[in-house]
Amino acid sequence: MTRALVFDSGVGGLTIADALRKAAPHWIVDYAADSGFFPYGVKSDEELRARLPDLCATLVSVAKPDVLVIACNTASTLSLADIRAKISVPVVGTVPAIKPAAEQTKTGVIGILATPGTVRRAYLDDLERQFAAGKIVIRRGSAGLVDIAERAVRGQAIDQEQVAYAVKPLFDPPDGPRIDTVVLACTHFPLIREAIAAACPDGVKLVDTSEAVARQAIRVAPKTERSTGEAIAYVTGGAANKAAMTPAFARFGYDVIEIIDV
Ligand code: DGL
Repeated sequence: MTRALVFDSGVGGLTIADALRKAAPHWIVDYAADSGFFPYGVKSDEELRARLPDLCATLVSVAKPDVLVIACNTASTLSLADIRAKISVPVVGTVPAIKPAAEQTKTGVIGILATPGTVRRAYLDDLERQFAAGKIVIRRGSAGLVDIAERAVRGQAIDQEQVAYAVKPLFDPPDGPRIDTVVLACTHFPLIREAIAAACPDGVKLVDTSEAVARQAIRVAPKTERSTGEAIAYVTGGAANKAAMTPAFARFGYDVIEIIDV
């Protein structure tokens, strides 16, 4: 049996853990939330660069996975290479689904909803150059949507007006009304997919990466024999964060929660 560790700043990666469990039901899929340092989307590049590789190395030494999945666009688009350099097991990243969006758009105008960190990444410029040449790509960074998703999964009601307020500026630029495909380029956003869809004009398609990331994890993971065991959710930030995250973890089937001090 294979053991995977899916990592995010908060609850967003649970969308990827879920896709992975569906695609590989015989795997044990552990989860790690860096709740003590959440949210990543408003942190400086320097702060994230200083934290992510060492944190991931610590998580891997504790959880001992066969594959590490960075289920966070904000972290992957900045630090994937630095994390890989520190870790001996295969590392799978999560990056905005610009390629499928560029293939699917009929109007040639794509919207990208991400964190403020992800929308300013050079990595995104490269993806656009490589996969969306000739298309118009409009980016919108929102920390508010991350917060709404995080709170929704922890059990709070979604305020549709707040979602609409966060999504609307994507469609404001001159080419905005022609957007027919929106990339959910933050793993938190599929958790409030219906609310985001309701805030977009009719007919707009939402694209995310969870199934593609799950497939990639299955492709790169070594085939190993393992005894069965319970999946564990790790959380940083001490007992208060453990308590705050417990409902979200329970909703996704994690009953064993351990605090990691980093
Ligand atoms: N879930 C993360 C992402 O995919 C970021 C959320 C945050 O911590 O700002 O980008």
